[in-house]
Amino acid sequence: MGKPKLVISTGAGISAESGIKTFRDSDGLWENYPVMEVASADGFRKNPELIHRFYNERRKQLIEAKPNPAHMGLVELEKDYDVYIITQNVDDLHERAGSEHVLHLHGELMKIRSIRNPEYVETLDKDHLETTPATRGKNGDLMRPHIVFFQEAVPNIEPAIELVREADIFVVIGTSLVVYPAAGLIQFVRPGVPIYYIDPNPASTAGIPGVHVIKEKAGKGVAELAKILGHKINFRNWKK
Ligand code: OAD
Repeated sequence: MGKPKLVISTGAGISAESGIKTFRDSDGLWENYPVMEVASADGFRKNPELIHRFYNERRKQLIEAKPNPAHMGLVELEKDYDVYIITQNVDDLHERAGSEHVLHLHGELMKIRSIRNPEYVETLDKDHLETTPATRGKNGDLMRPHIVFFQEAVPNIEPAIELVREADIFVVIGTSLVVYPAAGLIQFVRPGVPIYYIDPNPASTAGIPGVHVIKEKAGKGVAELAKILGHKINFRNWKK
């Protein structure tokens, strides 16, 4: 028999202890930047320059950040579980921690894609992280940040729903559960499958029966989850 399937949906809260600001906490990103100007399709049409600058800034912060014990704890769980991470985050901290399966719902900060052909995606070189509306890909196309803006479809929601349907255990970490369709994933968990929600300030999960809330920051919460699941996290094995 294979390992049980552990599907984990993460949001900005899991990267908070790496020093990356969340969106809706006090002093969060959306308090300091007008969301519809820097993260919407209309905003991109009106002022692409501003959007490129905004994501250049985010990239600069990201390369200084490191995965934290929560990201690394999820890697450790791969010993006992088939772990699949569905993240709303555009950072690459799950990958850098060493997680095997990471599905990004809202795009990836370190990538850019063709404006003409959304299938054409390039990963930015660490030494050339800045883009402008004039940035071209290796194929000559004009490029844009590989980010799902508000008012745009979320192409990875279908595979994400499939994963949630197959989950033997479902975990939600560090998300305010306000942005759809990501917030609706929990609806696809099969009846009887245990659900855990780690967040120091959890949103209401009213209507979803049997959610086990772990009211902790992600680092401590993941360690507690591991304990509940009977898994001993071996700190010495943590990759950087
Ligand atoms: P939010 O900023 O809306 O929510 C962050 C959540 O993390 C809140 O529930 C906090 O209580 C929790 N939190 C804060 N510190 C934490 C910590 N140390 N450990 C664990 N949890 C902590 O972020 P998201 O729900 O991820 O989309 O936001 C969803 C989407 O809205 C984002 O992907 C982004 C944004 O607009 C796009 O930009 C497309």
